[in-house]
Amino acid sequence: MTDQPNLPQKPVALRVVPQPADANVHGDVFGGWIMAQVDIAGSIPASRRANGRVATVAVNSFLFKHPVFVGDLLSFYADIVKTGNTSVTVSVEVWAQRMSLAEEVVKVTEAMLTYVATDRDHRPRVLPSLD
Ligand SMILES: CC(C)(COP(=O)(O)OP(=O)(O)OC[C@H]1O[C@@H](n2cnc3c(N)ncnc32)[C@H](O)[C@@H]1OP(=O)(O)O)[C@@H](O)C(=O)NCCC(=O)NCCS
Repeated sequence: MTDQPNLPQKPVALRVVPQPADANVHGDVFGGWIMAQVDIAGSIPASRRANGRVATVAVNSFLFKHPVFVGDLLSFYADIVKTGNTSVTVSVEVWAQRMSLAEEVVKVTEAMLTYVATDRDHRPRVLPSLD
């Protein structure tokens, strides 16, 4: 979706609104919950590129720039930045619209993750060619 001028003008991988069960007693959303959503968002382009199952092999970097609150509308953008023989490295950015309103838009998180294409026996699998 690219209909929101304050958000990156590229396809969104995932949109989700954190719920009270995802927060600590202060109302801030748990970092671990955000990490799980980032892992899911990053796996989408990785598994498309792998044309099948992938496993997360590494979280190369993860930065929580601003807090996330219950009720924020979170948009996850996931871009492949590198591919190897079996691996796909994905950059993920998370943007929050506070309390689901369009006016305040903040980049809350950025991360870099590496996925490995795997076979049925969970072993690394060479990425399919792009031809
Ligand atoms: C993913 C897995 C199958 C890879 O198996 P492996 O024997 O370690 O594979 P390799 O050493 O051959 O590495 C495979 C690829 O991962 C890359 N890789 C390995 N460790 C890495 C790291 N720390 N950072 C970035 N890339 C890494 C390698 O460079 C290689 O990429 P390439 O083929 O494109 O050159 C295996 O490590 C595994 O099953 N891990 C658990 C996955 C999992 O359960 N994830 C969820 C946990 S929360």
